[in-house]
Order: sequence, then structure tokens, then C-alpha cells
Amino acid sequence: MTRIAIIYHSGFGHTDVLAGDVARGVEAAGATAVPLRIEAGQTDFADFFAAANEADALIFGSPTYVGNVSAPMKAFMDASTQVFMTRDWQDKLAAAFTVSASPSGDKLNTLTSLAIFAAQHGMVWIGTGQLPGNNDDTSAATDNENRLGAFIGAMAQAANDSAEVTPRAGDRATAHSLGQRVALAAARWRQGGAKDSVAA
Ligand SMILES: Cc1cc2nc3c(=O)[nH]c(=O)nc-3n(C[C@H](O)[C@H](O)[C@H](O)COP(=O)(O)O)c2cc1C
Repeated sequence: MTRIAIIYHSGFGHTDVLAGDVARGVEAAGATAVPLRIEAGQTDFADFFAAANEADALIFGSPTYVGNVSAPMKAFMDASTQVFMTRDWQDKLAAAFTVSASPSGDKLNTLTSLAIFAAQHGMVWIGTGQLPGNNDDTSAATDNENRLGAFIGAMAQAANDSAEVTPRAGDRATAHSLGQRVALAAARWRQGGAKDSVAA
């Protein structure tokens, strides 16, 4: 069975909502979603590393704080140097999602940080694969998938509303789509042979 670990932090619940959508996308593809929520102040990630070892792909989720990943997510990233030399994540698939208050909010930088993080671990990056939503100036634009037009990962905007109100439908569908895409890609990746040989 294809297993996808969703490793994320959420300070105020918005990234939590997206993580749930990513997980439902994974399950919709017939794979197993393993959500792993990083808590503020957490320093021991042994369980996370064990779960990551069992997974075919890791999907990272972080709110954008001050134009980058949140401190708890960075704590996890820094702690992962424990599995950097052993190359535990080499050739696993990776993807990411983020949410910030502003339409931009500099959240591209968050996804770029996570893509570099994955690259340092030798992972293979999966983007949204989605064309930008058909943006227009009508209110319906908030319901368009990939309305924020990102290719590198799933972006969402939460303004200052509670996590019960935002992210809105379009952004949540984008997160769902990313989970589904990564799970389908991971299933194909598993069938392709070991990392040091090519299937005939
Ligand atoms: C410390 C902090 C820094 C933030 N920095 C940004 C930022 O740089 N750009 C932005 O658009 N929103 C910023 N925000 C807003 C959050 O990205 C937004 O509220 C997001 O939905 C929080 O996700 P969460 O509920 O999962 O923690 C910041 C919020 C906090 C608490």
C-alpha cells in the first residue's frame, strides 16, 4: 500500500484544515495518509522520522510566518539533519503546501524553502501540475482551483478569518488535488523499480 506522510505545523488551524484536505486527496487516490502534526516547542522527532521511513512520499505543510516557514517547521527541518547523512529520504517524492493572510504574503518563499529542503535530502519534487485557476474579478474566483496560480506547491489565503471560514473552497480543492497527485505519482514511482536499477 502506498503511504504518504503529511508533516505539518499549524499555529491557528488554517494549515490544519489544508492538511485534512491533502489527506483526503491521498485517500481518494487509494493510498494511506499519515498526518504528523508538529507542535510548538517540539524537539523530539523520532516518531516522525520512523513514519517518514515507512512512507513513499512526504508532503510538507507550513503556514507562512514572516515570509518563510514557521519556527516549529524549521525546528523539524533542522532536526532532520539526523537523517541527512544516512540519506533516509533519498528518492522519496516530496511536495508542499502553505497558507498566508495576503494573496502573496511572500508565501512563494515558504514553498521555495521546502523545495530546497527536499532537494537537500535527495527527494524528487512534485508540483501542483495545475494550470492557474481562471482568474477573474468576480467573487466566484475564490472557488477556483489553484486560483493563486502556483506551480511549485499548493497555496492558500486565509486573510484574518478563523479557520472555520478560510481557506475557502478553491484553495481547499487545490490542497486536495495535491494530495491526490502525490499519491498517484508515488504509486507509479513504486512500480518503477529500485533506486539503483531500472525496471525492464
Ligand atoms: C508570526 C506570524 C507571521 C506571519 N507572517 C505572515 C506573512 O509574512 N505573510 C502573510 O501573508 N501572512 C502572515 N501571517 C499570517 C498567517 O500566514 C496566516 O494567519 C495563516 O493562515 C496562519 O496559518 P495557521 O493558522 O496554520 O497558523 C503571519 C502570522 C503570524 C502569526
